[in-house]
Amino acid sequence: MALQPPRTGSGRRDPSPPRSITVRQPRIDLVSSASNAGGIPRFWWGGDPFKTHFLDALSSTFPFGESFFVRSVRFYADRIEDPTLAAEMRLFAGQEGQHSRLHDEHVKLLVEYGYTGLETRNRVIDRILRWQNRRSPAFSLAATAALEHLTAILARQVLRDPAGWLEDMDPEMARLWRWHALEEAEHKAVAFDVLMTVKPGRLRRNLAMALNTGGLVLEVVDRMAYMFWKDGLLLRGSIWMRGWRFLLGRGGFLRGVGREYRAWYRRDFHPDQIDDRELIATNEPLVTAEVGTVIEKDNPTQSTRVPSSPACG
Ligand SMILES: [Fe+2]
Ligand SMILES: [Fe+2]
Repeated sequence: MALQPPRTGSGRRDPSPPRSITVRQPRIDLVSSASNAGGIPRFWWGGDPFKTHFLDALSSTFPFGESFFVRSVRFYADRIEDPTLAAEMRLFAGQEGQHSRLHDEHVKLLVEYGYTGLETRNRVIDRILRWQNRRSPAFSLAATAALEHLTAILARQVLRDPAGWLEDMDPEMARLWRWHALEEAEHKAVAFDVLMTVKPGRLRRNLAMALNTGGLVLEVVDRMAYMFWKDGLLLRGSIWMRGWRFLLGRGGFLRGVGREYRAWYRRDFHPDQIDDRELIATNEPLVTAEVGTVIEKDNPTQSTRVPSSPACG
């Protein structure tokens, strides 16, 4: 997806495309699917331990991560006067609440498979992040905007799906990831716009990105290593080599994302400079067909109902 020419550095959208954020309540049930015969297999992505644990690791950080995002954005709710952005913040919370709920089911599934340490670790990190919210709301918001940029980059890779990745997944998991990726693309700029409205400092923004990129990479690698250790595969060199090629080899999952990542550090960056409208338009009907129920849709200024966000408080 091409980067569009820089617009403004103000953070708030000027003549930008209208945003459409839809809160869906998907019919996805990972826990009961897993207990059925022929349910979700341990290595649900093409039978490959590395690919599976890469997304297992990321997914297992979402329950506490997305709750943190919602708290970080909500903290500034009364400082936002723009009614459109205020409505988008509610829709953002609604979407992230649903994500958090479903990824919590994924964690339960991982615990069923024996990776019990993930649940304990999540509880500890959740406490630390709640403390961070109280201690440093401005940095928490900057971290949220930065991590939303990273999730938007990953979401774009899933939605583009150049190598037929989704087809290779267990179907229930493929539905989960397409749905989540679509909604990340829909709300990618909300936390950024709140940040630019209330705490626009560039140093904080860049520092938050640098620290959180490193933190996320370490956290994912550490979680993957733990799961491989439980599988007895930690020292299997071929798995790591294949995994490295999958991530960074020709056509790899993270291949070519550097330009979008680095754009964050530009003075005049705004997430909407990366035009995802076509990707969203292509995937939206598929997600609607795959996951179903809409709680609240579109035109946030006319929304009357605040969607529930059960896992975020
Ligand atoms: Fe999310
Ligand atoms: Fe998000």
